[in-house]
Amino acid sequence: MVKKKACVFISGSGTNLRSIIKNSRDYNFPINVSLVVSDNKCARGIFYARKFSIPYICINSNRHKFEKIILNLLIKKKIKLICLAGFMKILSKKFIRNFKGKIINIHPSLLPKYKGLNTFQRVLKCNEKLTGCTVHFVNETLDGGKIILKKKVNISEQDNIKTLKKKVQFEEYRAYSSAIRKIYS
Ligand code: GAR
Repeated sequence: MVKKKACVFISGSGTNLRSIIKNSRDYNFPINVSLVVSDNKCARGIFYARKFSIPYICINSNRHKFEKIILNLLIKKKIKLICLAGFMKILSKKFIRNFKGKIINIHPSLLPKYKGLNTFQRVLKCNEKLTGCTVHFVNETLDGGKIILKKKVNISEQDNIKTLKKKVQFEEYRAYSSAIRKIYS
């Protein structure tokens, strides 16, 4: 199988990156992670790029400069899919249009509910009994693109932000790779 070249964008701990890399080692997985991009040179996720010998780049600069550098690199490396995994910068409309239908994101809620930040706090405050995660295509509206798949997580009365985050992220790891498989099936 000829695998598509993918790039993962991160800003933080990179546990979804780790999961995608591990799954991509499977012969039948449709992508190879060929590049990791971080907008934060202190992101813990860079450790996984190093560990698995994947080229990576950290760009701590404004969005315009960041996108200019990245765009050239993505074209040069023939990247066919961009996976946002805890990437906290908002990409410009121009950048998104350049990669229309080729950028996907994971969000820690059952979209369209709880778009944006601090999802676990807001879900708990609203006494929800159910939450989860969503993998979706990125369009020009925040957390608003076409949904690829969702995974549900039950919330118990004992849950707090930390326990809920752990439960949702556990599902995220499976969700992200299932979504990538689904796109290419
Ligand atoms: C993940 O839980 C992801 O859903 C969330 O950031 C976390 C990154 O964790 N993304 C967003 O909130 C995007 N709006 P990771 O760096 O360990 O993969």
